[in-house]
Amino acid sequence: MRKKIVAGNWKMNKTLDEATALVSEVVNMVKDEVTGDVQVVLCPPAIYLTTVRQYLSGDGRVALGAQNCHEKASGAYTGEVSAPMLQSIGVQYVILGHSERRQYFRETNAQLAEKVNQALANGLTPIFCCGESLEQREAEIHQVFVRTQLTESLFHLSPEQFARIVIAYEPIWAIGTGLTASTGQAQEMHDLLRRHIAEKYGEEAAQSTSILYGGSCNEKNAPELFACPDVDGGLIGGASLKSREFTNIVKARQ
Ligand code: G3P
Repeated sequence: MRKKIVAGNWKMNKTLDEATALVSEVVNMVKDEVTGDVQVVLCPPAIYLTTVRQYLSGDGRVALGAQNCHEKASGAYTGEVSAPMLQSIGVQYVILGHSERRQYFRETNAQLAEKVNQALANGLTPIFCCGESLEQREAEIHQVFVRTQLTESLFHLSPEQFARIVIAYEPIWAIGTGLTASTGQAQEMHDLLRRHIAEKYGEEAAQSTSILYGGSCNEKNAPELFACPDVDGGLIGGASLKSREFTNIVKARQ
């Protein structure tokens, strides 16, 4: 049975007081309202990771995630954060390959393969992001583009290593735009990803891999998105900054 996961990617938002208010509200709402077996992950800016960790309950229902890690374990990389650092402060998940990092920081598939290796070597669970641009979809090369993202960044892994990967399909044209993928579009791409994984690692591995949807997911469209057979949860941006709405999305997944 693959894991149901709802992760909140806070991106570059919140002051310290706002961040502590958000995490304490979410933890309390999840404790009081969420009964199902859904894993919640909060991914604050790196500067707040140790603060947010202090508000998490010890039962693991809400886990801590980072928004990135460097592809090296240490060194002269001013401003960067390494996987060993994240492990040392109790981070369990790390988002890798988010389209905004691919766009603004020119992250390549090869570089992301190194980041995935670092994350796995330090006991972190990568939430590996993939997804196409509107131009690629309109040119009908979106399927080969997304398959290549997995092939070049993940398919060097052993079956045991791959078993620790979470995938997030985030169509770039749906991120932050309010233009959500239709359930048909989401299911089509999640099914494509799962079949691509099956071709490499076998059907059992494919059926065990959690594939999350991201891209303008909110409390209104989450129920229909999560009803798709190959959508195992969500990677939530804007809506994760609002405790009530984020918790409603979690409840839609339980
Ligand atoms: O990582 C999740 C994020 O890219 C989705 O953003 O604001 O469209 O939910 P948003």
